[in-house]
Amino acid sequence: MEIIKKAVDMQAWSDSVRQSGRTICLVPTMGYFHEGHLSLIDRGKEKGGEVVVSLFVNPAQFGENEDLDAYPSNIERDLALARERGATAVFLPAVDEIYPPGYQTYVTLSHLPHHLCGLSRPVHFKGVATVVTKLFNIVKPHAAVFGAKDFQQVCIIRRMCTDLNYNIEIMAAPIVREEDGLAMSSRNAYLQPSQRPAALSLSRSLALAEKMVAEGETTCHAVKKEMEGVIQGFPEAVIDYISLCDPNTLEEVVSTDQPVLAALAVKVGTTRLIDNRLIDPAGQG
Ligand code: PAJ
Repeated sequence: MEIIKKAVDMQAWSDSVRQSGRTICLVPTMGYFHEGHLSLIDRGKEKGGEVVVSLFVNPAQFGENEDLDAYPSNIERDLALARERGATAVFLPAVDEIYPPGYQTYVTLSHLPHHLCGLSRPVHFKGVATVVTKLFNIVKPHAAVFGAKDFQQVCIIRRMCTDLNYNIEIMAAPIVREEDGLAMSSRNAYLQPSQRPAALSLSRSLALAEKMVAEGETTCHAVKKEMEGVIQGFPEAVIDYISLCDPNTLEEVVSTDQPVLAALAVKVGTTRLIDNRLIDPAGQG
């Protein structure tokens, strides 16, 4: 497995792979791998070409009071896991390599970031769209894999690809969960064992929402109230948002007569957790 740190070297590597007729699938990450990240490598390998994992904690997607400085990291372990899982190359740039002095070009979207996580993280998706654009230009992939855990991120990347004419297939891989239902996240490392029940309230509230819709509830307000009740059962859990929205536009909906995305963000102590589930009233959700 190659470890490449410079953008020009990465571009040259990708050019030679492309010239030889092989394909490249990119798995963008910020490291501190768990099974969710590694499942994306598996998905990429199914494409049959080279899999490039990028590992870069992107400062541009963290707000001022967010956890950039505390973001967990274990690069040696990540490299070993990526190698074990069959990645062909890891792109591991320094911050200066991506944002050199004088950097001033950003990618923003007009609508999709103004929902869900974008409301409480106003700079987040500008940072994500910018770094993913740069990774696309540096790694030159034919396909890229993202996790459905960050549903809004996938919507934004897909829109960006269409809008900017990127000829890159965007694949969304299912959410990987712990045995107890907690969606895997690098940030789960911050949780104290005593906070686990509160953290589980996210997936529980989504399961309840799905059950209510399956049993015929059509009013989003009623579903959200019940979800809220589950979370509020834990004093340590503070709701950022609970949303039932259109999975394409991310706009709030009032009725579950069409497939809806149930999505939420909750702070458990200082740890911000997100989760979501697509709910199809026809029962295929
Ligand atoms: P990061 O949080 O490291 O996540 C990297 C990828 O892993 C994302 O596509 C994310 O959706 C996916 N992922 C995380 N947890 C998952 C889980 N439990 N199941 C399945 N997939 C999961 O998302 C980012 O980094 C950054 O925003 C990035 C796209 C790399 C841009 O900086």
